[in-house]
Amino acid sequence: MRIDVVSIFPEYLAPLELSLIGKARQDGLLELNVHALRDFTTDRHRTVDDTPYGGGAGMVMKPEPWAQALATVAAAAGEATAKPVLIVPSPAGERFTQATAHELAGEDRLVFACGRYEGIDERVMEWAAEHFTVRPMSLGDYVLNGGEVAVLAMVEAIGRLLPGVVGNPESLVEESHSDGLLEYPVYTKPSSWRDRDVPAVLLSGNHGKIAQWRRHEQYRRTAERRPDLLEEFDAGKLPRADRTAFADLGYDVVDGHLKRRADAGGDSA
Ligand code: ADE
Repeated sequence: MRIDVVSIFPEYLAPLELSLIGKARQDGLLELNVHALRDFTTDRHRTVDDTPYGGGAGMVMKPEPWAQALATVAAAAGEATAKPVLIVPSPAGERFTQATAHELAGEDRLVFACGRYEGIDERVMEWAAEHFTVRPMSLGDYVLNGGEVAVLAMVEAIGRLLPGVVGNPESLVEESHSDGLLEYPVYTKPSSWRDRDVPAVLLSGNHGKIAQWRRHEQYRRTAERRPDLLEEFDAGKLPRADRTAFADLGYDVVDGHLKRRADAGGDSA
C-alpha cells in the first residue's frame, strides 16, 4: 500500500517512523510519504489560509495550495486503475471504525489531507472528486486542533491490518471490535498478585471452558461499557449457554437481535 499525507506540520507525522508502522515501512510493506502543504504555495509568505467569506471566527485554508498538492500526489499515482481514496479528517466526517479500517486496508493507495484552522475551502472537495474518492472521516465526536493526530490513529489502525505487519495475525482476530464486541480481560503471571487471583478457569487447561468464559466476559464488558454495540450484534445463532449469559445481563434474543428487558436493572439503556 502507498500512503501520502499532506500537512502544514509534516513533523507531526514523525511517530509513523516508529514501532510496527515504522518497521512495515522499512520492510517495504507500506510506502508512506509526507508532503508539506506550504511547498505548494507561490507567495513569499507561503500563505495557506485566509479569512472566511460570510464572516465568523478563525481562518479557512485556501484552495489553490491544496489543489497543487493533491494534483501532484494524484499524478504520482501513475497507472493505478482505481482513483485513490482521499481521506479528509474532520469532526464533520463519517465515523472511522474498525470496519472502515478493514475496508481501507484493501486499497492500493490512500491520501490524507490534514486540515487546520476552521477547515479547507469546500470547493477543494468538489474539485478533488474528479481525481479521488473523497471521504471526510471523523475519529469521534470531539474536536481536535487539526487532522494530524487523526491521521496518526487512522494510519496505525489501517497499517496493522496489512498482511505481514502484525507478527501473529491471530491477535487481530480476538481483539476489541473485530467481532462487534469489546475484548475479554487478559492476565499474566503471577497467578496471585496483591491478594488478587487470576480467574481459576484460565488456569484449568480446559480450552472449551476458557473460550466460553472469554466470550461471556466479552458480553458482560460490552453490555456494561458499550451497550450501543449490542444493538448491531447478530445473536441469531448463539448457543443456549450464551443466551443464558445474555439473559443474566438483562438481554433477550428477539428475532436474532438482543433486546434489553424492560425490567433489567443497571445503567445500560
Ligand atoms: N479534526 C478535528 N477534529 C477531528 C476529529 N474528531 N476526527 C478527525 N479529524 C478531526
